[in-house]
Amino acid sequence: MHSIFKPLTQHVSFTGELKKDIQLFLTLNQCPKTAKHCIEVGTESRRIAMLFNANQAAAETAGWLHDISAVFPNNGRIEVARQLQIEVFPEEERFPMIIHQKISKVMAQDIFNIHDQDVLDAVGCHTTLRSSSTLLDQVLFVADKISWDQSGVPPYINELNRNLEKSLTHGAFAYINYLWERKETLKVIHPWLRDAYEELKDKVRLV
Ligand SMILES: [Fe+2]
Ligand SMILES: [Fe+2]
Repeated sequence: MHSIFKPLTQHVSFTGELKKDIQLFLTLNQCPKTAKHCIEVGTESRRIAMLFNANQAAAETAGWLHDISAVFPNNGRIEVARQLQIEVFPEEERFPMIIHQKISKVMAQDIFNIHDQDVLDAVGCHTTLRSSSTLLDQVLFVADKISWDQSGVPPYINELNRNLEKSLTHGAFAYINYLWERKETLKVIHPWLRDAYEELKDKVRLV
């Protein structure tokens, strides 16, 4: 395990049961809200996976793990990413919140011994999606937007649900398009989000 994770894990008595261990890890590192959010996204992710014939267990696992990097505050994330030898984009440097997806991916592997590449990749792009996104990428992306981590009802939820009736890709695009329509107000546009927008825009038009 990378030494940067030691102070976060040495006071946690891991049980070997993933769901419980993620809850323990987050709660004992002062992130009880994230613990709740991760479990809820796991449940939602399994539901979406069932609707679109994706691997339900993998989807649930990805949901549980997706925000575990919340234990690192925003102002330390770029330094953490550098220490973990993660590639840092200028957009991430300007708006460190969005690098949490890449840090969660490394933590899933290194702390929780996840080696399923599909799960790791879905965790690693859950905020922005990416080009050539997989079924599981889209499942987690949509689940995290439906079961969001803020209070109240997400402003895009009706549009997302309406599109989800057509396909999972339509659902994912509905959210990306919502952001795109407001892109002047966004702090940055992540290059992976731009890629996903360009790619899915054509896909949903064809279907
Ligand atoms: Fe997230
Ligand atoms: Fe999340």
